[in-house]
Amino acid sequence: MGLEPSAPLPPVDPLQEQLLQLQQRVQAVLPQVERLTCDRVEGQAQQGVPIYDSCPLQRCRSSVLLPVRHNGSPDCVVGFHASGAAAFSEAEQATLEALAELIGLTVHSHFLALGSLDAAAQLAHDFAALRDFETGSHLNRVAQYARQIAEVLAERHGLSSLYVEQIGRFSRLHDIGKIGIPDAVLLKQGPLTPEERLVMNTHVDLGLTMIEKVLDQHALLDQPGAEVLRNLIGHHHERLDGSGYPQGLKGEEISLEGRIIAVADVFDAITNTRPYRQGLTVPEGITELERLAAAAQLDPNCVAALVGVLRGQGAQGPST
Ligand SMILES: [Fe+2]
Ligand SMILES: [Fe+2]
Repeated sequence: MGLEPSAPLPPVDPLQEQLLQLQQRVQAVLPQVERLTCDRVEGQAQQGVPIYDSCPLQRCRSSVLLPVRHNGSPDCVVGFHASGAAAFSEAEQATLEALAELIGLTVHSHFLALGSLDAAAQLAHDFAALRDFETGSHLNRVAQYARQIAEVLAERHGLSSLYVEQIGRFSRLHDIGKIGIPDAVLLKQGPLTPEERLVMNTHVDLGLTMIEKVLDQHALLDQPGAEVLRNLIGHHHERLDGSGYPQGLKGEEISLEGRIIAVADVFDAITNTRPYRQGLTVPEGITELERLAAAAQLDPNCVAALVGVLRGQGAQGPST
């Protein structure tokens, strides 16, 4: 069973929804505004990161760009655009300034919540890295692959940059429940027995329980991103054909983030050497990913995205 090529659906993004509503309010006051943009200002270089563009292909002859500051430093740049020349009078520009502040506040509160969630996530990740070095480096590599897959899917399927950011930040936590697995199983230098495998598999539910406590303690249960975090942990061992665990979910019952991280996790596992097993080369790993996609275990779109990235980095495909 495979998914249709268009399967990845953008998850509901509360920030985008709020910006869309704000745009409608702006248009109720100033109907000539045909396009609203919002870029987040990031880093020392004050680089703009696009977070909202209501109709990116539209050409505009009038644009008012307004930086919005928070605590004295620029936080975002809000743009109001119209197709006509000299579309905004001076009085209207003053109105736009007030509206830009309102939009800036909305954006800021979303990123503040994301930052709190990230700080909690970082703490949990640091504990995991302390417990077992290999687990820590595995988490970082998986996060990198997952972000790369999300970036490719974002271009093709219009996923928001906030969603890609959440995947990149929170993927490191997918195996957080391994903190609760006994050393005899977690650190065993050899293949696990069926009984030990069952113990190891409990790391998914352990992780969900742990992260729920962290979210609860930091009052972050309903924050945007919390659901993505839960799904990255809860779905990373689910498989499209229902053969995964812990719930045996099938196809699109598995969240998009769950399907993305499953590919990243499998690729890292099979290409790294364990004391009892030689890791595959990158080309061999690509062949194995494609086999698992054809066998309806991994999402073919997510596999194609990662394979494209790896080949772009110089990995050769299978020799056949
Ligand atoms: Fe895992
Ligand atoms: Fe993992």
